[in-house]
Amino acid sequence: MLLSVDRDSAVPLWKQICARVAQLVDDGSLRPGSRLPPSRSLADKVGVNRSTVYRAYQELWAQGYLDSRPGSYSVVRGRLRPPAASEDARSLIDWSQVSTPGAARAHQALEPGPRRSAPPDGLLDFASLAADPALSPVDELRRALRQVLANGGRRLMDYGDPAGYPPLRETIARRMRTHGVKVAADQILITNGAQHAIDLVLRLVLHPKADLALESPTYAAAIPLFKLHGARLQPLPMGPEGADLDALRTLLVRRPPALVYSVPNFHNPTGITTGQVHRERLLSLCEDHRVPLLEDGFEEEMKYFGKAVLPIKSMDTGGVVIYVGTFSKVVFSGLRVGWIAADRDCIRRLCAISRYTHLSGNTLTQAALQCFCESGGYEWHLRRLHRIYRRRMQTLLDGLDAHLPRRLVHWTRPAGGYTLWLHLKHWTADQEAGIVERLKQHDVAVSAGRDYFPVSPDGAYIRISIAKVDEPAIESGCRKLAQVLKRAAEV
Ligand SMILES: Cc1ncc(COP(=O)(O)O)c(C=O)c1O
Repeated sequence: MLLSVDRDSAVPLWKQICARVAQLVDDGSLRPGSRLPPSRSLADKVGVNRSTVYRAYQELWAQGYLDSRPGSYSVVRGRLRPPAASEDARSLIDWSQVSTPGAARAHQALEPGPRRSAPPDGLLDFASLAADPALSPVDELRRALRQVLANGGRRLMDYGDPAGYPPLRETIARRMRTHGVKVAADQILITNGAQHAIDLVLRLVLHPKADLALESPTYAAAIPLFKLHGARLQPLPMGPEGADLDALRTLLVRRPPALVYSVPNFHNPTGITTGQVHRERLLSLCEDHRVPLLEDGFEEEMKYFGKAVLPIKSMDTGGVVIYVGTFSKVVFSGLRVGWIAADRDCIRRLCAISRYTHLSGNTLTQAALQCFCESGGYEWHLRRLHRIYRRRMQTLLDGLDAHLPRRLVHWTRPAGGYTLWLHLKHWTADQEAGIVERLKQHDVAVSAGRDYFPVSPDGAYIRISIAKVDEPAIESGCRKLAQVLKRAAEV
């Protein structure tokens, strides 16, 4: 067997030997049953260390090219299955045929969808709604991680409690009580983010083809998830005060949905926060008709203008509200820690589903997060975010006031959070994509409004997020926005 290695190559010597032997087997030069030279003699011939050949043989054995018994020769094995020729070999399964209807719809909704990759450098990112990595409490989290690993880290390496790391459940329950929600730790289920929490709730209550009432527009990534579960979506138009509750009442009387989904604070995408009266009415309607209300409090803590409005869950004496929270928008989204606060029986049932679908969450992360919260780091970080985003949002509002003509555009005035909603009054729904594209050509990325509607909207809209843009960028973005819209209106 002739073998040579390239000592100048970046590829390790054992890998080179392995690849060469595999090639000789694949092209038939080495036939099944042929003996390979003992590792010592091949090493002498090639001029490498014996352990290098040994490692190459081990790899070849792992890949199914060799049979080897201790103390005996390595023998070439007749591989029944040839190795895949390339990474994108064609599948024998037609995945579009085997996909369930819900999965097929989710796939369709993916392209073009709300989840895009990060905009290229130089593009002003008014699209992304994820906590700004520039503001991440990296040092504090590093300290927390080090601390929990030092204090009994080995216990955190096992599967954890399916309901979540108990001290974090306690911390979240306490935090919720500061928002007026009277819950104990056993009424909290920790999830891998709010999206996972919504999925669990859907698994619990949504029978195939059941109706689901939701605000329109709404959180874009919830729409394909609802459809994946086979829900029939019943849109409730959003007005300046929140969802149309007369439409909800009619729906509840005619054919009660299995679930009502609402984002009462800093609604995604409009930024609207509903008032106390709206909240009371929404809760009463759900109570009267015994329909669970899924309250998505994804940015509950991001109120930085005016007085706080308590979550609907804080008035829930009848246990109809399933509250969902997350650390994604305040700490960072890659953390994947969210939670559900609900009636005990509901939590137990959700916990059973969660246990079968993901066994347990990431205990180490949850323990570090709990340490971060308990050390006061979370509270400090939150106050800092409020200061920063109060300024950012004010800059955006001032910029729009200064540059955008109201005859062309109407916009919301959020009391917190990251997003603001523009109604492009002068344009039709069909023209919306053109405006988004023009803005992109001027290096401004925004989210197209149509992604947020369960059914095609009547008008043209865009969502602006200030999550990842600082004040100078917001000012320049407002000017560019105005420039593009004014020009487009002249055409
Ligand atoms: C309204 C709303 N709910 C839930 C989520 C999902 O959050 P998480 O990252 O915790 O899954 C998002 C994410 O943007 C959202 O906007």
